[in-house]
Amino acid sequence: MTAQRACGVGELEQDTPLRVVIDDVAIAIVKDADDEIHAIGDRCTHGDISLAEGFVEGKTLECWAHGSAFSLETGHPLNLPAYEPVPVYVVTIDGDDVLIDPTVIKEV
Ligand code: FES
Repeated sequence: MTAQRACGVGELEQDTPLRVVIDDVAIAIVKDADDEIHAIGDRCTHGDISLAEGFVEGKTLECWAHGSAFSLETGHPLNLPAYEPVPVYVVTIDGDDVLIDPTVIKEV
């Protein structure tokens, strides 16, 4: 599969996650304070909670339910109760398009 358009760069507000679904894969896209764009699995590994409903803090996305903060760079939770990582996806920028292939998980 090839990367597909997930959203426009202009749709992303700093530190405000955007949930997208590509081929039934839910992904949380975040433009951080450094204007870096990240894409991680949207489902918290502790419970069935959308991480895109959580809070961005630096390079982390915190689940609102019980406070596990997931690294936007590695997908690993930095604190309990979650202990399993979420996938991290490769993001490609093409003009104003944010492209993601949900079958390609970044090696971190
Ligand atoms: S559901 Fe996310 S930390 Fe509990």
